[in-house]
Amino acid sequence: MSAGDRHKSVYLETFGCQMNELDSELVMGALRALGYGFVHEPDAAGVVLYNTCSVRDLAEQKVRSRLGEMAVRKRKEPDLVVGVLGCMAERDGAKMLHKFPAVDIMCGPGELDKMPALLDNAVRTRQSLRADDDDAWARSARQLALQGDTSRRSGTLAAASDTLEMLDLSRSVSPIDHGGSAYVRITRGCNKFCTYCVVPSTRGAEMHRPPDHIVEECKRLADAGVIEVTLLGQTVNHYRFEHGAAVRVDGVMQPQKGRSHKGGHARDVYAGERVTTFADLLRRIHEEAPGIQRLRFVTSYPRDFGDDVLAVMRDSPRICRYLHCPAQSGSDVVLARMNRGYTVGDYLEFVERARAFLDEPEQGRPLSIAGDVIVGFCGETDADFEQTKDLLRRVKFKNNFIFKYSPRPGTTAFDRLPDDVPEQVKRDRCNELIALQQEISDEVGQGYVGQTVDVFVQGLSAVETKRAKRAQAAHQHGNGVALTIGGRSVGEADEGDCCDTGACGCATSVQDPGAANGHIQLTSRTDGDLIVVFDCPAGTAPDAMIGRIVPVRVTSAKGITLQGVLQP
Ligand code: SAH
Ligand code: SF4
Ligand code: F3S
Repeated sequence: MSAGDRHKSVYLETFGCQMNELDSELVMGALRALGYGFVHEPDAAGVVLYNTCSVRDLAEQKVRSRLGEMAVRKRKEPDLVVGVLGCMAERDGAKMLHKFPAVDIMCGPGELDKMPALLDNAVRTRQSLRADDDDAWARSARQLALQGDTSRRSGTLAAASDTLEMLDLSRSVSPIDHGGSAYVRITRGCNKFCTYCVVPSTRGAEMHRPPDHIVEECKRLADAGVIEVTLLGQTVNHYRFEHGAAVRVDGVMQPQKGRSHKGGHARDVYAGERVTTFADLLRRIHEEAPGIQRLRFVTSYPRDFGDDVLAVMRDSPRICRYLHCPAQSGSDVVLARMNRGYTVGDYLEFVERARAFLDEPEQGRPLSIAGDVIVGFCGETDADFEQTKDLLRRVKFKNNFIFKYSPRPGTTAFDRLPDDVPEQVKRDRCNELIALQQEISDEVGQGYVGQTVDVFVQGLSAVETKRAKRAQAAHQHGNGVALTIGGRSVGEADEGDCCDTGACGCATSVQDPGAANGHIQLTSRTDGDLIVVFDCPAGTAPDAMIGRIVPVRVTSAKGITLQGVLQP
């Protein structure tokens, strides 16, 4: 590879939530259009980008350690370009440049449309500088695009939203990229200000994308072969678009007067006359993009669930019976301290209502509810924690993402509430809750045994992927590499053996217990987001199965991972 090519080869690693995954996809599309290519290993890249998350300290630690590695590499390769995108860039701001001199580019999530220009500038500046002028080299290539404290100001908000909208609209939809499944953003930012959370400051104020753009994107994706769409937003069910309205700093729509020429005669119209609610949006996508066979959405906010949304879900066969609706705690005192704006009673009322509308196990359509919980939040007592356990038992969540509270600078809790639950107590509560959730998930999974469910095939199972990686490593090392699973030697790849990744275009000869029956194991998801693994039928290439919806009879369950057999 020539030096010129190297500057066009990018390694991009994504941390954090689905929103970041989608942002990375959009940035990759924009960079590809400028002639950049992507590689799987950072060592092979002249440009290394991290799309980062700030939600917990652990998420940031991972990035800090990557940046440490890059600093070492840069001593040998001064022309390497390192970029930090996403929430951590926004949260740390320009301070990061002092802490991590290896960083050349910083770009917050609200400025990603500027990313291609920043990178182009950085690369060009680098190329025009002499490598022996260390100082100029280090400083001049640095490029920043952050919203800083402007991110909640109405003027800049509308402008930022417009240019960001261009990034979503310019999405290049290529049939090979998506494996039949895609994310579509409906809302940016968040206005809830839960006291522990960085998202309102990193992603800015809540903005809703125009419904026509969303529906159009879904249609384009369906035309490109996508059959599963997940709508994204921090509080998706809060979606509400007032046509022709501007947005104030608090996210409230400001009606605007305009002229309508509909029906041949002009009249004044006020924005707000026509509103697209979340229920309307779901109905429109379901009707206007029927190629989308599975429509789901994350993340929902418990307080904002109207019956209108539940009714549309009930009446639309292609909308999944799945809700990811974090409760965060089972104690009213803790919920109030978190500023969640609902009580445990409200949450239970919502679950009861949702089940009344949507839980139809006898029709093969049970409602599946997932959530998030934070343990060890400021002031959480043993009694509060017991109430959280109680809530998990009562709701029978399919699964919960359980996190230890991590104080985040810049949040209200960080400034005003002491982080007074000792680390060991947080850890113990976290483990206890994981164990309890495991029991509940086991029970939920057992409920599926014996049933036939439609599943969306996503790819090789985790076991199969590990096996492929080991095989590839054996292939790369050439010969005589022992493959081990759980410390046990399960096979020997002899000289001339090849991998089963398809990269070398030949058949595998790698053995392990999973492959002993000659079948390749696939992973898939039910409508309610349970994992189902099953064997790819003999004589069928896995690629021919991936991205399809097929019926599978569930034979056993371990937690929410179900094992099944493909049905004819
Ligand atoms: N908008 C979503 C969640 C976004 S952040 C919602 O309100 O449900 C994803 C999850 O990270 C949150 O649900 C919460 O459980 C967790 N989280 C956020 N901030 C955290 C913090 N400071 N410490 C620990 N977990 C946190
Ligand atoms: Fe964070 Fe709360 Fe907004 Fe979710 S709703 S992103 S937890 S502030
Ligand atoms: Fe993390 Fe930002 Fe998502 S903080 S969870 S990447 S919105």
